Amino acid sequence: MLQSKLPDVGTTIFTRMSALAQAHQALNLSQGFPDFPPPHALRAALARHAMEGHNQYAPMAGLPALREAIAVQLGRHRGVHCDPETEITVVPGATEAIYCAITACVRRGDEVILLDPCYDSYRPAVILAEGTPVHVPMKAPAFAPDWERIEQAISARTRLLVINSPHNPTGAVMSREDLLQLERLVTRHGLLVISDEVYEYLLYDGRRHHSALQFAGLRERCFAVFSFGKTFGVTGWKTGYCVAPAALTAELRKVHQFVCFVAVTPVQQALADFMTGEPDYPLALAASYQRKRDLFCAALAGSRFSLQPSAGSYFQLLDYTAISASDDTVLCEQWTREAGVASIPVSVFYQQPPPQRLLRFCFAKQDEQLLRAAERLCRI
Ligand SMILES: Cc1ncc(COP(=O)(O)O)c(C=O)c1O
Repeated sequence: MLQSKLPDVGTTIFTRMSALAQAHQALNLSQGFPDFPPPHALRAALARHAMEGHNQYAPMAGLPALREAIAVQLGRHRGVHCDPETEITVVPGATEAIYCAITACVRRGDEVILLDPCYDSYRPAVILAEGTPVHVPMKAPAFAPDWERIEQAISARTRLLVINSPHNPTGAVMSREDLLQLERLVTRHGLLVISDEVYEYLLYDGRRHHSALQFAGLRERCFAVFSFGKTFGVTGWKTGYCVAPAALTAELRKVHQFVCFVAVTPVQQALADFMTGEPDYPLALAASYQRKRDLFCAALAGSRFSLQPSAGSYFQLLDYTAISASDDTVLCEQWTREAGVASIPVSVFYQQPPPQRLLRFCFAKQDEQLLRAAERLCRI
């Protein structure tokens, strides 16, 4: 019989909580996706390209027009220069790029530093590559990387370090000083970096995103990963891109071409059209999501939860210490069934969960849903 290569992995919590929310008709603030439609022009472009016959395989690295649009956006919004031919790869979701980058870099016994809590796809990808994940915790409530502790975790076998800012699940945002510290560290130890920047446009209260691509020492050793799903509210289109120097991109593409080969053609056409027509669309996102964050947080003012407004991403953590001493996974299911609001327990993002009582709520939801959810949470 087959011996599982991932014995500890079951169906992800996101799938389970969404199913539970549906079964109990709870308001679903668990999974990270918007419940409102993406821009009309984007959807219309997809329909048009499908009808006009753009339905066969795209070039393996992505449609040239889309890669060109990505390069223009990186120049315009981040001041970063990239060669669309050799440094940008369009992928079927950021998750695929992360998997391909890890598979391309990690050999048996190589160590990969992951900062806990972290997105759930990193660890299994390292294990499938026969690498060893080394989890270094970040501390509540700020969830800032502890660079001293990270440096102590580096050994002769360390190959790669994965960062994620703005951060899922905590909403924390890395400062410029954090990126400088990272740059010093990885340069000193000769490490590669995956920088997961899928929430790059969702930063609040005037904060600015610092991309790893903007730091010379990181740029030359980094796979930076982005998701159109998050930026354009089309998570179901599962399309993103990876920016890396030519030599790293060549290795990423060797894996990508045998994992998925390409991303979906009419989706790429539609994204290229939309990005060319509305190049600054993403710059308006922060204000509209900040308004949602504020609406949700203000409506929770009378509740027994405590919170720090999220600095970035579309997730808000709520601390239930004043309400219960129960395990977050137990409470999450209980409150989905009994209070009618589904969330995600933060402990699932840890290898060794610390004694904290936090739930993650996605506020990429219609105002009315956020207000109804908050009203129910106030009754707990
Ligand atoms: C931190 C992080 N990285 C990557 C992804 C995956 O993005 P995609 O849907 O483009 O694969 C997500 C989605 O929730 C995420 O939160």
